[in-house]
Amino acid sequence: MLSLTRRRNSLYLLAGLIFTFVFLSYHNLPRDALPSGLLRPGSGPGSPPGTGSRWTRLKPKFPVPPSSMHRLPTSPPLHLPKIQKSFGPESTTDRGIRLIRQQRVKDTFLRCWNSYRTHAWLSDELRPVSGGKRDPFGGWGATLVDSLDTLWIMGLKAEFEEAVQAVGNISFDATRLKEVSVFETNIRYLGGFLSAYDLSGDRRLLEKAVEVGEMLYVAFDTSNHMPVTRWDLNGAARGRRQTAGDRVLLAELGTFGLEFTRLSMVTGDAKWFDASERITKALRAAQNETQLPGMWPVVVDARAMKFGQHADHTLGAMADSWFEYLPKMYALVGGLLPEYREMYEVAMSTAIRHNLFRPMVPGDADILMAGLVHAKTSNGETRTSLRPEGQHLVCFAGGLLALGGRLIEKQLHVDKGEKITDGCVWAYKAMPTGIMPETFYVVPCESILECKWDEKKWVQAVMELGSSGEDKLSFEKAKQLIEYKRLPKGFTAIPDTRYHLRPEAIESVFVLYRITGRKDLMESAWDMFQAIDSNTRTELASSALMDVTVTDQAVTLSDTMESFWLGETLKYFYLMFSETDLISLDEYVFNTEAHPLKRLLP
Ligand SMILES: *[C@@H]1O[C@H](CO)[C@@H](O)[C@H](O)[C@H]1NC(C)=O
Ligand SMILES: *[C@@H]1O[C@H](CO)[C@@H](O)[C@H](O)[C@H]1NC(C)=O
Repeated sequence: MLSLTRRRNSLYLLAGLIFTFVFLSYHNLPRDALPSGLLRPGSGPGSPPGTGSRWTRLKPKFPVPPSSMHRLPTSPPLHLPKIQKSFGPESTTDRGIRLIRQQRVKDTFLRCWNSYRTHAWLSDELRPVSGGKRDPFGGWGATLVDSLDTLWIMGLKAEFEEAVQAVGNISFDATRLKEVSVFETNIRYLGGFLSAYDLSGDRRLLEKAVEVGEMLYVAFDTSNHMPVTRWDLNGAARGRRQTAGDRVLLAELGTFGLEFTRLSMVTGDAKWFDASERITKALRAAQNETQLPGMWPVVVDARAMKFGQHADHTLGAMADSWFEYLPKMYALVGGLLPEYREMYEVAMSTAIRHNLFRPMVPGDADILMAGLVHAKTSNGETRTSLRPEGQHLVCFAGGLLALGGRLIEKQLHVDKGEKITDGCVWAYKAMPTGIMPETFYVVPCESILECKWDEKKWVQAVMELGSSGEDKLSFEKAKQLIEYKRLPKGFTAIPDTRYHLRPEAIESVFVLYRITGRKDLMESAWDMFQAIDSNTRTELASSALMDVTVTDQAVTLSDTMESFWLGETLKYFYLMFSETDLISLDEYVFNTEAHPLKRLLP
């Protein structure tokens, strides 16, 4: 589903279509706008966890015998290596500048929050241009739930209290969608409630976390206990028999660890931890048996529990958070599950060898990108080919490697993480809007050590990418294409020019800053914020963009504002300019929706 064919001119259209399909199906559910959230009046704060929800009354078809249930480790947590740098005292000037910037981030957040509150309260999303609303995530108030911990972190206590009260009116008993993404429901809603509970200690939030947890647990009621990832929730509620999918995305199968483990930790009920451990054990057994041993492919078969067939391997879209949760699980449980550390280490040594590459860029910056590797192993021999692609989504890998490197004391990982992050900063700076596009292609260097910019080579790469079979693009035509497609130097194609208000670049800049204290990251973050803020700003809020290669944004606002804008992007920008002990990485791990969860500490 990911292979791109090279056809002149139609490449862009085709690639655009493929990516549109891929991204709609990955980070969005069906786009038809639905009526606003289902309310459950009268079930406010106070009722004991889980009661009142139809999910606890369903009889499981495939109950897990208590004797085979995985339980949380009970030994005392380990003293893990320190992640954050020890920051010295700050000059008055630095502090002044930092606080002004932080206030600017908060102002943008509040503008968006207030518009959501006025125009789309309890809906999943505000339409930031037209003032309408959308419900692609079940209609359970995704923006509200995703924003809870950000409100708390920003010190917006009155707004937080109002939001928590409203949360009592959301019912997870049903949805108007035919199918919900179990992955998105887990990371946005369960992650959102758990994090807001961890920060505030407000038990109304724990109650909602349990309610979502009880609902999601039903998606695991299959003969092999692998979850259904695109889920007919209303059918399940009527007792429909379920089977796990035979073609599911790695990220959608494997992203439960942090939320489910934390939920088991705070409730003392091991069933969620057990559900996620069953997936981990199965994936772990396959780690060295895939087409690219050490990595898992993008698409796996959860029905037959075969995880090594598919050929495409990436840290990016559709696989990403499975890799992200490996070191984070190790951190969450205080080092008591060493197999996560091992899986992380094995996976990253493979990714560093095969997926990371240095792009040829003007000025010869020493940066890295994480591409997609097509691999085939037979008779112990692995053949690979690299697709030299950049993605906004894969920018999280910089933070992942830096964090993992600190946790297992492997400086090489921190160094690679820095270069990936620098690559994302480079891609932001290279665009006329100062914002990186969703996907693009570059020219991979032959050597990671030295790589001189060669303009002719770049044009030739555009030529090759634009040619198909007999149908060759001339050098001159390639130069015209560069102009017509507004390709900055170094970019050979931009199949998806959009910016969805995504967080992954600032996420890694934030993590790297907390780890290294590099001052230039603070400046890059500010540049990124200003570029994003000014280009995406609407009368009401902030909107995703159709084309970051065009500076006249009036024509390219897409009238969408996903909940992660308030839940992730603005939270990371805010934390970038906060005191460095606010949500310290030595006390919290962020889930893949930027919801900080408390680590088990000695
Ligand atoms: C939630 O429901 C209660 C009644 O159960 C109502 O008083 C309150 O206004 C509702 N809050 C919101 C934000 O809808
Ligand atoms: C996979 O191989 C690595 C060595 O490359 C080894 O350390 C690891 O334990 C193996 N994993 C499994 C699950 O066998």
